Amino acid sequence: MEKQLLYSGKAKDVFATTNDSELLIDYKDQATAFNGKVKEEIPGKGKLNCQISSYIFDYLIENGIKTHLLKNVSDHEQLVRKTQLIPIEVVLRNKIAGSFAKKFGLKLGQELTQPLIEFYYKSDELGDPFINDDQIVSLDIATEAELTFIREQTRQINQLLLALFNQDQLDLVDFKLEFGRVDNEIILIDEFSPDNCRLWDQTSHQSLDKDVFRKKEADLVVTYQKVLNRLKGAQK
Ligand code: C5P
Repeated sequence: MEKQLLYSGKAKDVFATTNDSELLIDYKDQATAFNGKVKEEIPGKGKLNCQISSYIFDYLIENGIKTHLLKNVSDHEQLVRKTQLIPIEVVLRNKIAGSFAKKFGLKLGQELTQPLIEFYYKSDELGDPFINDDQIVSLDIATEAELTFIREQTRQINQLLLALFNQDQLDLVDFKLEFGRVDNEIILIDEFSPDNCRLWDQTSHQSLDKDVFRKKEADLVVTYQKVLNRLKGAQK
């Protein structure tokens, strides 16, 4: 049977399944940067993203975080729960990097007094603009109570992931999460991979994330494979 494509994103395709409450996500061999302005076909990337994200989501699930992941159906496809997407990108920063360093003219890698959370409105046409809590509530994107829950979940996920990556001598500098509503609950959706976080080697301070592609510093597949190997203990 022909799979019914519901949505084609920059890094993933989403298909309908025979079960109306489930979706199939297929990770693509495609990398984009600068809001899609740079786009490249990278064989092997989809499998790596899928495997890294599944590893991280399984770890979060084991630690009590509710996510959309049901199971992996191949090395590049996941079966997930269908949710109503909350169109905000939740960014947590442990250290100063990326757009935050640029915006405030700050030194890369500087520690923050405490991790900070920012929200961006999810819109490719608008280039994902910054949005604050009041704007989110007044525009009916999410309620105050939902935002409080999202902030708490994001901080809890950060604590869990700091511990996980620290075991592998990786600094979790920042990351982006997305959430969806299902059955009166809010759960973690999308993916967690080097596409949407910054990971720095604690010794060499080298990037092991999409910055190697954005800055043309190293091969993306080699870099993401290193992250997967470290997570799976190949280099522990
Ligand atoms: O670019 P910026 O410094 O704001 O990104 C913060 C974090 O959020 C980075 O880890 C980046 O990869 C991630 N991000 C993302 N998707 C976006 C914007 C940022 O995954 N649309």
